[in-house]
Amino acid sequence: MAEERDDMDDATVEAGIGGRKHGAKNGPGLFDEMTIRGLTVRNRIWLPPMDMYSSLARDGKPTPFHYQHYVSRALGGFGLIIAESTAVTPDGRISPCDVGLWNDDQIAAWQWIVRDVRDAGAAMGVQLNHAGRKGSTGCVPTGHIGATVPFEEGGWQTVAPSPIAYGHYAEPRQLAVEEIHSIIDRFRDAAGRAVAAGFQFIELHAAHGYLISQFLDPLSNRREDEYGGDLEGRSRFLVQIADSVRGVIPDSMPLFVRVSATDWAAGGWDPGQTVQLATILKDHGVDLIDVSTGGIVPDVTVPVKPGYQVPFSDRVRRRSGLPVTAVGLITKPKQARRILRNHEADAVEIGRAALRDPFWPLRAAHKLGLETQDAPYPYQYVRGAF
Ligand SMILES: Cc1cc2nc3c(=O)[nH]c(=O)nc-3n(C[C@H](O)[C@H](O)[C@H](O)COP(=O)(O)O)c2cc1C
Repeated sequence: MAEERDDMDDATVEAGIGGRKHGAKNGPGLFDEMTIRGLTVRNRIWLPPMDMYSSLARDGKPTPFHYQHYVSRALGGFGLIIAESTAVTPDGRISPCDVGLWNDDQIAAWQWIVRDVRDAGAAMGVQLNHAGRKGSTGCVPTGHIGATVPFEEGGWQTVAPSPIAYGHYAEPRQLAVEEIHSIIDRFRDAAGRAVAAGFQFIELHAAHGYLISQFLDPLSNRREDEYGGDLEGRSRFLVQIADSVRGVIPDSMPLFVRVSATDWAAGGWDPGQTVQLATILKDHGVDLIDVSTGGIVPDVTVPVKPGYQVPFSDRVRRRSGLPVTAVGLITKPKQARRILRNHEADAVEIGRAALRDPFWPLRAAHKLGLETQDAPYPYQYVRGAF
């Protein structure tokens, strides 16, 4: 993933990079509230899911590291925090160090984090995931980073819609229909545990080449049964997960879906299918689409530059009518503000820039000229305001 490292200098953004040049429109401000179902979020600067690969005991429980990581960003002014890829089964982990919600013991390990993030004024939800053929890859304690962890070192047999490997990863086993039904139930169970842990919304990870997007994409799904074939068949797994999760979470709780709007490969998943999918999901209780790209097939060329995924969020928003978030090299306050003003997204997500600066929202408020009392300062930090 290419990245532009910078301070908060807006020169390139003012030159028109990272948002369309059609001037300021009257979209919402970065610090405007947003209400989705029963959840009101204090601003539109959100933390995207970022896997920390740090459940070092390999029991799927978040640790004091996760507590510090999430609570410090809530104190830093983020309106909403999406907890990282959280596995619905042990073999749904990306790596042995991923967090999970596949058993009841994991609920309490999340509870203290969620409680203090919420106390700091941010909304917190969780991204539920099954890694499918991109599972059993390495983390720092296991080694084998970017490769398959062997069985004898704690790796596992991966599964997928079809027995097609992702690049040099091990070949997955094709899922039987009963196994697909069981994974749908595991998403439902994990969503129930997320509610018990205090999370305020659920995000389904249907992006980046993990199991749900393996079903969506014709390059990884060659099934000829009801879970393959046309868009309706390839979407069935996701739609059934959405229905089953919606069935166990309160009506007031938002349901998000993260998609890859394109896999950047000929003959694969594309923005047109993404819009069709979003339109289908709208009728299945999904409230917001988190628009990313890529990760489904290896060795593709991605035209990475500031705000490079914003045209996709814009398109999904306009054509599906659902609220969307934009993500991907949004690093500067005026760039972020412009995306919202132009109605290209309803909220922006700040990922890597937030890894180097947990106080990104407070710094942005200062850069944009907000008074301290209008910025999301914890009261304890007001005397240190920018
Ligand atoms: C360390 C790291 C871990 C990530 N883990 C996840 C993840 O768990 N789920 C996900 O959907 N995206 C994940 N991503 C992608 C980010 O959510 C985000 O889409 C990406 O970093 C682009 O945004 P940025 O340019 O603001 O960083 C991860 C990115 C990073 C840097």
